[in-house]
Amino acid sequence: MYRVGIDLGGTNIKAGIVDENQKILAQVSAPTGAERPAEEVIADMAALVRQLLEELAIDESALAGIGVGCPGLVDAQAGIVRYSNNISWENVALVEQLGKSFSCTIRISNDANCAALGEVKAGAARDVSNAILLTLGTGVGGGIILDGKVFEGSNAGGAELGHISMIMGGEPCTCGRRGCVEAYASATALIRDAKRAAAADKKSLMNQMCDGKTENMNGKIPFDAALAGDQAAKEVVENYYTYLAEAIANYVNIFRPDVVLLSGGICNQGTRLTKPVEEHLSFLCFGGDRAFVPPVRCAVLGNDAGIIGSANLI
Ligand code: BGC
Repeated sequence: MYRVGIDLGGTNIKAGIVDENQKILAQVSAPTGAERPAEEVIADMAALVRQLLEELAIDESALAGIGVGCPGLVDAQAGIVRYSNNISWENVALVEQLGKSFSCTIRISNDANCAALGEVKAGAARDVSNAILLTLGTGVGGGIILDGKVFEGSNAGGAELGHISMIMGGEPCTCGRRGCVEAYASATALIRDAKRAAAADKKSLMNQMCDGKTENMNGKIPFDAALAGDQAAKEVVENYYTYLAEAIANYVNIFRPDVVLLSGGICNQGTRLTKPVEEHLSFLCFGGDRAFVPPVRCAVLGNDAGIIGSANLI
């Protein structure tokens, strides 16, 4: 039997068909268009699933079910997204609405919890007992793996690691609070800081790299410009490492996991991201390097973790 995993993100909807060996046989994606009514986004999800079934010439009857990972507070039992800060959903009956297009089982959970589940089932957390996973994208999502199981809190309402206050009264966060980890360590925050730095230093290479239009800024440009020696970009990237490390040190002091996993597009930077963060951690975590300081790794499944994890809700 096949399962479909859908990773609903603030920017893109990704969907894939996963087989019994946790392999993604085919995947498709479409822009979320988060400002649209939920019904339209859900209709696009259904269309992506149909596209996958057609591509692999699989009949719906061969589907064991569809799992969806959604950002925000997800009532997994009721099948309702109670609240999502970064796609502005409130009480969306996702299981019921998607269920109008399919007769198979549909289950939902928080997107970052799904990514953590993916890593437990098929990725970097298969062989460890305790891990923390952070998804660095439009928002910052959290997955807490304790004794090999994903800790979700009640109704998938826990593990909101992106909404831990890091700087009182700091940058506004999508959740309504200020100074959250998400407001500093998400890809959105990195892009905001890169835009500000490029605007403040017209000679910065970052301006050239986005063709003089800051709306073209993305999360890769500051890393590329820093590598090419651009001072403004180096500062943006250094600050980003520090924010991320400060956040991770807080989680380490609570959980002391075996490993910290990062996922999301920023992970394409690989050790350029993880090494400096590890260096900061060696003195930020309680006990410094006198204690065990967990390694920081990019999640093995990368952007596929969400799809594989959501499929494993089935
Ligand atoms: C949401 C989380 C979600 C994360 C990643 C955050 O803004 O509050 O629920 O897991 O973004 O999408």
